[in-house]
Amino acid sequence: MKHVLDITDLSVEEINSLIDTAIDIINNKEKYQEVCKHKKLATLFFEPSTRTRLSFEAAMLELGGSVIGFSSASSSSSSKGESVQDTVKVVGYYADIIAMRHPKEGAPMAATAVSDVPIINAGDGGHHHPTQTLADLLTIHREKGHFDNLTVGFCGDLKFGRTVHSLVNALSRYTGIKLVFISPDELKIPQYIKTDIIEKNGMPYVETQTMESVMPELDILYMTRVQGERFFNEADYIRLRDYYILTPDKLENAKKDLCIMHPLPRVNEIARSIDSDPRACYFKQVENGKFMRMALIMKLLGGI
Ligand code: NCD
Repeated sequence: MKHVLDITDLSVEEINSLIDTAIDIINNKEKYQEVCKHKKLATLFFEPSTRTRLSFEAAMLELGGSVIGFSSASSSSSSKGESVQDTVKVVGYYADIIAMRHPKEGAPMAATAVSDVPIINAGDGGHHHPTQTLADLLTIHREKGHFDNLTVGFCGDLKFGRTVHSLVNALSRYTGIKLVFISPDELKIPQYIKTDIIEKNGMPYVETQTMESVMPELDILYMTRVQGERFFNEADYIRLRDYYILTPDKLENAKKDLCIMHPLPRVNEIARSIDSDPRACYFKQVENGKFMRMALIMKLLGGI
């Protein structure tokens, strides 16, 4: 039995095979309609979500399976004081696979110690978000055709943004990737990511506070929301939340084939007028996420 807590729980070969499966699903949807018949997915979301939870649920339904679960800690026995481990143990009697989101880093890892069914981390605090990374990787694959030799800019909340941490980790396994981190001082990429992933793998990177100066070199611009819910101080959040707003004038010197990504939800970081720019890929990420989750569920249930 395999759990997916971190993107490196999947090898590069496994990710390539998930991408191949996702593309086959896109082209042959009817072939997969009953693959998970009589199987149940439980979505245990102790923290709010729109895309990730509904994407998991849509993925399982499109595979012919069914879905149970809860969408907030307040609607589960966690509000009565039940531990995550007890909740997961119990749900293992009802479901064949669990997708779990939790505000505490490491909660899904603790759950694996007692779980009799595969657990997929659907986001743990500011830590990891491997299935968003699978969505991001399929998007990059479909837009660019490869992962090597790309200059990837990450902009916004690089401190708390778990999607950034997971994608940097995934990209560290390809060659010729250059990273550009655009953030205010207070929201810089954590030192442990620099030491344990970026420097360990000899990846070139720069840190800057302005997007205009680096825009011409970027192949990918990954925008992020400032993660207000992880701030200790509301005044800091209000001061930093609109630090970067991507508007059409900022793209004047950008590459014609720049790929603009965002895990969503968007607040103000990308002006609505960018949505019609052919370089906007953030809604494509949403769709790709569902196909990759379908491929992952099948893999973990032994279907591929
Ligand atoms: C992200 C998350 O939850 O980390 N959203 C998502 O899953 N697509 C990003 C965010 O909340 O800002």
